[in-house]
Amino acid sequence: MTERELMQAAQDARKNSYSPYSHFCVGAALVTKSGKLYTGCNIENAAYPATVCAERTALFKAVSEGERAFQMLAVVGGKEGETAEFCSPCGVCRQALAEFCPPDFPVLLGTPAHFEKYTLGELLPHSFTSENF
Ligand code: THU
Repeated sequence: MTERELMQAAQDARKNSYSPYSHFCVGAALVTKSGKLYTGCNIENAAYPATVCAERTALFKAVSEGERAFQMLAVVGGKEGETAEFCSPCGVCRQALAEFCPPDFPVLLGTPAHFEKYTLGELLPHSFTSENF
């Protein structure tokens, strides 16, 4: 799967976003080292803190299926009905990713037509992991 295809998978997953409160729709696509794809969208709740982001939906779907080794993540987000814009993962999602992915893990942000590649270490420097205790 190419980087552009992974971004497209994130964009497609975004269509399932359940975001009646923020009207901000996010999709994520996570590919495992074995090449299997897991996608997710944000799922909001009337009790706002019960909301889960697209990135954690994808990650937890994969982990709950037994996956532990990941190759790359793509994220596409933006206001409902608008062309997707750059969307950066929240701190909770960065921390959840750091549990399973190393600092050099690639994270693609933007749209399928224009995206930028970061590492998880760039997004979450000096992270707290199991190696800290
Ligand atoms: N959201 C995500 O799903 N991922 C991000 O990277 C940032 C924010 C969601 C959470 C909430 O449903 C909406 O976007 C607005 O914060």
